[in-house]
Amino acid sequence: MSLRPILTLPDPKLKLVSAPITKVTDETRALAADMFETMYEAPGIGLAAIQIGEPVRLVVLDVARKDEEPRPMTLVNPEIVWSSTERSVYEEGCLSIPEIFEEVERPAMVTVRFLDAQGAECEMTAQGVLATCLQHEIDHVEGILFIDHISKLKRDRIVRKFKKDAKRKAEEKEDADGSRTAVA
Ligand code: NI
Repeated sequence: MSLRPILTLPDPKLKLVSAPITKVTDETRALAADMFETMYEAPGIGLAAIQIGEPVRLVVLDVARKDEEPRPMTLVNPEIVWSSTERSVYEEGCLSIPEIFEEVERPAMVTVRFLDAQGAECEMTAQGVLATCLQHEIDHVEGILFIDHISKLKRDRIVRKFKKDAKRKAEEKEDADGSRTAVA
């Protein structure tokens, strides 16, 4: 297992549609193990493979509270097969959009079909925070971020902030590289 860097906005990879996993293998399980380690360390309650730069349809999550036993779940090729007309609102955040939290409205309940870490077909109906987390992570697999569900005005403001931060970091790095060259 190893900790992997998490891609953040505005990394264009976050917009990729991930490819299905044709066979669940040791390689899939090794990737899931890296994702769990990275997610728990962050800490977060869900992570999609694309967030560590792997464009495959793999999601890990654990919505257990701190005082509960961990409940790690691995979902290969997850697919929403039913969603309720009833909707609910949760304040969401994302490890790829650090320190931004916004209310998002989604179906309150969903049924998800997926393969587990052994490749067995599973189906699960969820509500509450698990339903929200499942939808958030399955969005990642499709290249969709939670900010795509909020107003364009708010989204543009967030994207602008992250683009500006990325540009500033790149310039700082350039300056640092420049001064190293100067003293060499
Ligand atoms: Ni996310």
